[in-house]
Amino acid sequence: MRILILGSGGRECTLAWKISQSPKCESLWIAPGNAGTSSYGTNVPVNPEDKDGIIELIRRHRIDVVVVGPEAPLVDGLVDDLHGVPEFRDVIVVGPGKMGAMLEGSKAFAKEFMFKYDIPTAQYLEVTAGNLQEGLNFIDRQQVPIVLKADGLAAGKGVLILEEREEAKAELKAMLGGKFGQASTKVVIEDFLSGIEFSVFVLTDGREYVLLPEAKDYKRIGEGDTGLNTGGMGAVSPVPFMDATLKSKVIQRIIEPTIAGIRQEAMDYHGFIFFGLINVGGDPYVIEYNCRLGDPETEVILPRLKNDLVDLFEAMHSGRLNKQHIEIDLRSATTVMLVAGGYPGSYRKGDILTGLDQVQGSLLLHAGTKMADGQTVTNGGRVLAVTSLGEDKQLALAQSYAAIRKIQFADMYYRRDIGFDLD
Ligand code: AMP
Ligand code: GLY
Repeated sequence: MRILILGSGGRECTLAWKISQSPKCESLWIAPGNAGTSSYGTNVPVNPEDKDGIIELIRRHRIDVVVVGPEAPLVDGLVDDLHGVPEFRDVIVVGPGKMGAMLEGSKAFAKEFMFKYDIPTAQYLEVTAGNLQEGLNFIDRQQVPIVLKADGLAAGKGVLILEEREEAKAELKAMLGGKFGQASTKVVIEDFLSGIEFSVFVLTDGREYVLLPEAKDYKRIGEGDTGLNTGGMGAVSPVPFMDATLKSKVIQRIIEPTIAGIRQEAMDYHGFIFFGLINVGGDPYVIEYNCRLGDPETEVILPRLKNDLVDLFEAMHSGRLNKQHIEIDLRSATTVMLVAGGYPGSYRKGDILTGLDQVQGSLLLHAGTKMADGQTVTNGGRVLAVTSLGEDKQLALAQSYAAIRKIQFADMYYRRDIGFDLD
């Protein structure tokens, strides 16, 4: 099969690594990809948000399978547009249509969906300029801390957790006034849930699903989970506290009602669902839905998946997911993200990476890199994910950190404590 992956991060590099191992993968393209993806396929300089460019690419290369990595094109309705092209009737598209993608693209839509289908999540109120007073009253009534979320996509920055009611009220007004542009003309105010977060992934056709390995990511820049939020500094899979009891609660209370809701609402949903969950005293609650795989979670879940991913995509397309038996490597996978100095604030690009060819026993999954004059150079804040498998988390981490000692670029930074809270 002729396969196209859209995106350019560590998630897409991991997808390219995994898909290129499938005997069914005849040729692989990545748009636009990075220095790492070019070892598994051909990079093509087309932006995933350029619909016409993507349609033209699918036509030109007679693509059979399109895997959409990031959320923006999904929320923008790319999948509906691809389904609208008659000659693409048989193309397998991995990613939901626009309505399904709203589970990520609109926090208010997602909350309404969760309440409708009785899926555990924090109490909330949806606020626009029209019911500001109701929003202020809600803040007065609820406990602090309280959480304010921009309704729309805000590049991971649209969530504020406030300790003081007066501050929360001022922020609510600022958000509705355009603090996050269009994304915050509507705001979800919700109760703060206290617990430990983890992420669960399924591949679904909107009726059946297969459960993939779970993961925990580390979002803060600083050790001990301090400092600013980032796209993700590392991840671990499996998550030791996800025992059989918690897993069955996640399946019964969250995954199954979500899939039932998707079906009931007649959403076209062929793709991944990423459940961002929090374990509150043994009970799982949904913090958010994402309509795609996570980054850096993908860097630890796909290396543990033994199945051929292309087989699973075919099964998803032809309604045979319930016949698939998922096989998971019982070892632990860990990834540590190497980032550019200054990230998530301003940082330099174009620094040369050295030592990559010295690494043995770990998988180097490129995030923000590109080739320049025959050398691999930095091209983003998150530069390289170093993934390892080990009999346990400690051994996997020791391997990742040993690999990192061989790698250099100017002002390289990484967290030395990935997995610290999981013993
Ligand atoms: P989101 O974009 O919805 O994932 O929110 C970003 C981060 O904010 C989450 O990963 C959580 O760490 C935190 N967060 C969001 N909602 C809540 C909540 N209701 N209670 C506690 N923490 C939250
Ligand atoms: N690691 C979180 C995300 O991909 O949204």
